[in-house]
Amino acid sequence: MAKLVRLDKFLCDMELGTRSEVKAFLKKGFVTVDGIIEKSPDFKIDPDTHEIAFQGKVLTYQEFYYYMLHKPAGVITATEDKVQKTVMSFLGEDARKDLFPVGRLDKDTEGLLLLTNDGELSHAILSPRKHVPKTYFVEVPEKLDLGQIEALEQGVDIGDDKKTIPAKVEIIDDTHIHLTISEGRYHQVKRMLKAVGSEVLYLKRISFGALTLDGSLEKGSYRALTEEEITALRNK
Ligand code: URA
Repeated sequence: MAKLVRLDKFLCDMELGTRSEVKAFLKKGFVTVDGIIEKSPDFKIDPDTHEIAFQGKVLTYQEFYYYMLHKPAGVITATEDKVQKTVMSFLGEDARKDLFPVGRLDKDTEGLLLLTNDGELSHAILSPRKHVPKTYFVEVPEKLDLGQIEALEQGVDIGDDKKTIPAKVEIIDDTHIHLTISEGRYHQVKRMLKAVGSEVLYLKRISFGALTLDGSLEKGSYRALTEEEITALRNK
């Protein structure tokens, strides 16, 4: 069934301006629907079938946006902050007011961060019941022994009500591991390493559910997810 939306809402969703700015544009005759000037804000359109143009330029409707950001250290995972630089500052012309980060990485953590305006998907991915896996590249000061690795893999007490659920450890070399966790507790990786008597010297998220950090993305760069990546995230 056709999904009808008010013309002014559509134009706001396209980020052409506030409701009142958009109404003023309509009044001035800047907007056409299938080539005919339409001035009334409550005119109903079907974004899939109507061609809406603003000052002659056809607007392509996209409801949801998904970006993979390679977060550098030194920026905070927030939509806005009066003092500190946020992850949103990297989006340039793709910055939309409704985008937000899915989950958070600490200020000193680097790596894969998903930014979207799809609240439903975000909610599903972050749901504790879903146990979406996240893999981190972790640098530690000294080689972890078997007992420490086993403890991380079985679950450790990090001071919450419950132990962490089993994680997966892959040894890279003496001071680097890949740690895959399926929860998203506050400072979880750092607290897990501390709980086994080690510490995190460097932390980078390399995968998040079905997504893997794109190796061609420099720190501070981002790209839109592909259709395949979006589908894989939804099906995870
Ligand atoms: N665990 C942490 O300790 N920090 C992060 O940023 C992510 C996971």
